[in-house]
Amino acid sequence: MNIIDNKIDTILVIDDEKDIRTAIKDYLELRGYRVITAKDAIEATKLLDREVFSLIISDICLQGMSGLDLLHLIKEKEIDIPLILMTGYGDMEKVMDAFKNGAYDFITKPFDMNEMFISVKNAVDKQRLKWENIQYRLHLEEMVKKRTTQLKIAYKNLEDMFLGTVRIVINTLEASDRYTKGHSERVRQYSIKLAKKLGLTSQEIRNLEIGSILHDIGKIGIDKTILHKNGPLNNDEYAIIKTHPSVGKHILEPIEFDEKIINIIYQHHERYDGQGYPSGLKRDDIFFLARLVTVVDAFDAMMSTRPYRNQLLAEKAIIEIDKNLGTQFDPEIGKNFIKLFNTDHSTMDILKHYNKDGKF
Ligand SMILES: [Fe+2]
Repeated sequence: MNIIDNKIDTILVIDDEKDIRTAIKDYLELRGYRVITAKDAIEATKLLDREVFSLIISDICLQGMSGLDLLHLIKEKEIDIPLILMTGYGDMEKVMDAFKNGAYDFITKPFDMNEMFISVKNAVDKQRLKWENIQYRLHLEEMVKKRTTQLKIAYKNLEDMFLGTVRIVINTLEASDRYTKGHSERVRQYSIKLAKKLGLTSQEIRNLEIGSILHDIGKIGIDKTILHKNGPLNNDEYAIIKTHPSVGKHILEPIEFDEKIINIIYQHHERYDGQGYPSGLKRDDIFFLARLVTVVDAFDAMMSTRPYRNQLLAEKAIIEIDKNLGTQFDPEIGKNFIKLFNTDHSTMDILKHYNKDGKF
């Protein structure tokens, strides 16, 4: 039951004298409270197990378990209910002990009902405020959690929409060239397989997914006659092709992508030995996911028929990767890709894009 939804506060009154119990009950019920009474602490503990009370008013001297014992029990069970003790004259030592143990207040018998009411009202109001604060905090936490999830979904939807658009652009770019058709999509698929084999986190895999789809986006800015040229490229043309990682970075900079994604695009033609482009970065200076895409990108490029060199079969492509471990490719990533290709049956999907000769 939601405590706050219950508009009437319930008070537990414990006293071994029936007249006192009844008098307090009648008085407080007239003032809008619900009152349940108990003749001793044993009966009271049973009631505490099944009801939610806003306040306990208990005589300090009870048969069996005393009011102080009850206070200790409440503390022990971490029951958060204020307790007002009714004491007789000469119980001051007990009162001090009660305060030390967390009693809310005490009233001395015989007491004036109006004075008792002030103490009762203060305790109940304070308790209600406490519950409302807890409820508000819980509600707030729930709201923050809900809004965060909604924002994450909205962001992912936006990202997916953006990626969808980019895919169309990339597909259009690649479709105009039968030699590169589907390249970025295949690089995406193999990269994810390799990333999973390497045990990367879901966030790294997400970055990799975006980066691998986009890795050649800079080719949009390259002259199509060079991009689709039949025959080998001359030095000038090759120099222009080599600008595509920088062009890609430049295109995506206004979108404020995660820097890791930009690094994949900008560094996917760097070589492990520092002989790559555009920056000639070496080894670990090249971003890990970029090194991963380099391997997969090279594999797919070797598997694809290009106008300026012969088709290589998958096995030959793998041999080529093996030969270039430590020079062109990160040896660990390269070895894992070869292992993935050779041992994991699911990676035979890799070949589904090609016929048995390794051709599309
Ligand atoms: Fe590229």
